[in-house]
Parts: sequence; structure tokens; C-alpha cells
Amino acid sequence: MYKKPIIVFEGIEGTGKSHHINNVTKYLEKKKIKYIKIREPGGSFNSEKIRRLILNKKSNFNVKTDLLLYLAARSENISLIKKYYKKKIILIDRFIDSTIAYQHYGMGVNLKIINMINKFLLNDIKVSFTFLNVVNKKNLFLRLRKRKSLNRYDQFNLSFYNKVQKGFLILAESNKKFYKIIDSNLDKKKNEDLIINQIKKIIK
Ligand code: TMP
Repeated sequence: MYKKPIIVFEGIEGTGKSHHINNVTKYLEKKKIKYIKIREPGGSFNSEKIRRLILNKKSNFNVKTDLLLYLAARSENISLIKKYYKKKIILIDRFIDSTIAYQHYGMGVNLKIINMINKFLLNDIKVSFTFLNVVNKKNLFLRLRKRKSLNRYDQFNLSFYNKVQKGFLILAESNKKFYKIIDSNLDKKKNEDLIINQIKKIIK
């Protein structure tokens, strides 16, 4: 399908996206397939600095500042992405959909502005495929309780996360061909296999 795709893992907190991305890296390593893995916010040296600032529990930026910081973190990653674009598989733990889901659907920031700045940052860089991890309310509650104080965004409430997850689903449903929804309420091992099988199709 794509030789060196950009593959993104999205989803709200506690949906297992980081577990699955790590599982994919193990698979690629076993197969000796070259890849890079980044996360957002973070990934590159400067972007990790911005991550520490945004997610620090003592930070209390307003929603517009938050948006601009996430986008600033992305801007610092773009040169890294450009360097490997179409040369290596690029795995990203959160990307543009997170900004739309959290800042627009969750926090009500104007969508046009988010799309415009993303376009300004990405130019012709395109995501090839996205795995969207979803979770039901009961499991979300249980998982959030476990991770409660990891970072500032872990402290938002259930209704916020419902709005964000709905936003992710709107994005996935508007472009079904390029998304796979992973129901993380189901068996983890089965989901691992589902993702690896899809990865095989994407990179063949
Ligand atoms: P995580 O890396 O542990 O998933 O945490 C990152 C947090 O940042 C998570 O709560 C989602 C949030 N976030 C946004 O609100 N907007 C964004 O554009 C990105 C990339 C992340």
C-alpha cells in the first residue's frame, strides 16, 4: 500500500495506544524493518522541552495558549518528520487529530484556525494511516482513576473525555479508508494481532 508510511496512533488517555505502538516497534525490529517513533507533544529535543511546559501539573495556560504550545511542539517535530518522510516508516503517538479532538471538540477552539496552522506546519506531509483506540465509559473511568496524576490533562473529567473521543470518531468516520478503530474494551492480544495484520497490509 505505502512503502514508508506515516502511521499515527490516536485515542484518549488510557486506551492503550502507547502499548500498541510499542508492540508495533517490536514487530518491526523483529523483521529488521527501519522506522522512527515519535510522540506528540514531544518527539524531538525542543518539542520535549515544550511538552514538559504544557503538561506540568503546575501549568495553567488558557486554551489558546495550550493550542499554540501543542502546535509549537509540532513545529519542532516537522524537520525530524521531513528528514525521514518516505525514507523510513514513521510511527507517531498522537498527531494532528489529537489537536482537533482535544482543542476543538474538547475545548471549543475554532476548527478553522487549527486546520490552517496544521496545514501551514505540514505542507505536503500526509498521514498514511491512523489507528484510533477507543474505550467505553466504564473502562475509561477505571483507567483514568489508575493514572490520575500523571500529567495536567489526566485531571480532566469524564464528560471532557467523552467529547474528545466523539471528536476522534467524527474524524475517523469522515475518512474510513485511512482509519482503523481499535476497541480497547476487547482482548488486548486480539487487538495486537489486528493491528499487526493491518500494519503488514500497509507496508507490503
Ligand atoms: P500523552 O502523551 O500521555 O498521551 O499526553 C499528552 C496529552 O496532550 C494528552 O492529554 C492529549 C494532549 N494533547 C492535546 O491536547 N493536543 C494535542 O495536539 C496533542 C498532541 C496532545
